[in-house]
Amino acid sequence: MTSPELVSDFGATRLAPEPHALPAAPARTPVQRTRVLLWDLPLRVFHWSLVASVTAAIVTGELGGSWMAWHGRAGLAIVGLLVFRVVWGVVGSATSRFTQFAPTPASVLRYLRGRWRGVGHNPLGALSVFGLLGLLALQAGTGLFGNDDIAFAGPLNHLVDDTLGSRVTGWHRLLADGLFVLIGLHLLAIVFHVAVKRHRLIRPMITGVAEVEAGTPLPRPVGRGRAGLALALGLAAAGLAAILWLGREPATAAQPVAAEPAAVPAATTAARTVATTAAASSAPSW
Ligand code: HEM
Ligand code: HEM
Repeated sequence: MTSPELVSDFGATRLAPEPHALPAAPARTPVQRTRVLLWDLPLRVFHWSLVASVTAAIVTGELGGSWMAWHGRAGLAIVGLLVFRVVWGVVGSATSRFTQFAPTPASVLRYLRGRWRGVGHNPLGALSVFGLLGLLALQAGTGLFGNDDIAFAGPLNHLVDDTLGSRVTGWHRLLADGLFVLIGLHLLAIVFHVAVKRHRLIRPMITGVAEVEAGTPLPRPVGRGRAGLALALGLAAAGLAAILWLGREPATAAQPVAAEPAAVPAATTAARTVATTAAASSAPSW
């Protein structure tokens, strides 16, 4: 099997068809199939990094105590990832762009009646994508202003008074329950598509490549320059969150600031030095 030729990684969705995928005059094969680059690399890295950091945030949030320092770090990584996704959703590659898959009542109905054709998120899946991204943003946003009434406070907690801080923390706990439901639905939907409808969803989220019916309408690809610019902006946003994370490390009683020097690579140590110098004058509250 020859590997498919990528016309463009970030922007293009079309791959050169595999010879075996398009048989000449198929007498008994009614459906011709072609291979496309469904999910670009940045989107895949985003997805699996999000899975790892959300899992970490949930586990450390539930454990509490000294794990809250790691909870804050995972939370800030999620902030960076979400900023990246918003940028990528506006100017990213074809199947990543929000306007390409924003659902409308008509498209949802078409999908439910089995008449929707296209690649990327289907209209119902798109609803859950927006739900997940929106809820994660609220979750991370409320966390920034929250505190655990023991030794951990979010980096923006000092901006609100105690009453509001406690209220926002309450919302943070409530939203976490909503998030469990949405993540559960996301996983159930994937199991349903894979096990019942025999759709191959998981591999494309890993390799990027999917097989679709020849003639399926493909979204218009974007140029490499634009995709590169978006990637650079997204990385800058994620980097900013990382510097915030390193520079404003939570000074909890249970988790002293200099807790993990061995795990910090040289580049991040430099970032920490810069950020710490900047933070020293502004006396961070965590
Ligand atoms: C913490 C757990 C998870 C979260 C928060 C999450 C979140 C998301 C989000 C936000 C998207 C939309 C991607 C985009 O931005 O366009 C997505 C899509 C997807 N996720 Fe997850 N995910 C989780 C776990 C998983 C797991 C464990 C799998 C596979 C075993 C998975 C498989 C997929 C697939 C296949 C899609 C594409 C769906 C489609 O074809 O429309 N996810 N996920
Ligand atoms: C999307 C990212 C996040 C998720 C999924 C998440 C999830 C959770 C969970 C599951 C809990 C435990 C709730 C409970 O006890 O019932 C929790 C608690 C908490 N989180 Fe987050 N969190 C996120 C982001 C953040 C961020 C960015 C911060 C601040 C930097 C933060 C600060 C807190 C605080 C202060 C608590 C303790 C609340 C309490 O005392 O009950 N979280 N979070």
